[in-house]
Amino acid sequence: MSAPAHNLTPQDLLSAVQGVTESETDLIATLANVAALVFEALPQVNWAGFYLFRQGQLVLGPFQGRVACTRIPLGKGVCGTAAQSRTTQCVADVHSFPGHIACDAASASEIVVPLVVDDVLLGVLDIDSPVKARFGAEEQALLEAVVACVVKAVRAGNVPLPLAF
Ligand code: SME
Repeated sequence: MSAPAHNLTPQDLLSAVQGVTESETDLIATLANVAALVFEALPQVNWAGFYLFRQGQLVLGPFQGRVACTRIPLGKGVCGTAAQSRTTQCVADVHSFPGHIACDAASASEIVVPLVVDDVLLGVLDIDSPVKARFGAEEQALLEAVVACVVKAVRAGNVPLPLAF
């Protein structure tokens, strides 16, 4: 696999995400393209993808990057914490985060945005970086806007929740 081009500006990323979320009603297909776009747009990122909330735990969904752990209990690690608290977790140094799950030893910082539609937790968007403190307020706002596009698409998709998948 060749390295991503990293040639999407934040505005390009949002436009592209709007494009893929508005043109497809199958959520797995949409999440796969959103993961690819985020991975392509953000430099210094080694993993970008989704975990989906299924039967009380997070299960690996569409992603770009290296093989990852498949199941994460609610409340565990950065993803489980974001899912349980339903708040974005922006972690500058994953090695000092209690319970951090090290899928890839190269990961140093991480941001996880919950995907919640009408009070129903559907999963999380998880981005890892090999660089410490890679993510700040700017990236958080951008990734929350990306997730907001997905939320809008789920609402527009006429698929009953929680069976959006
Ligand atoms: N590090 C995450 C687990 C998922 S991987 O990063 C892909 C965590 O602590 O939740």
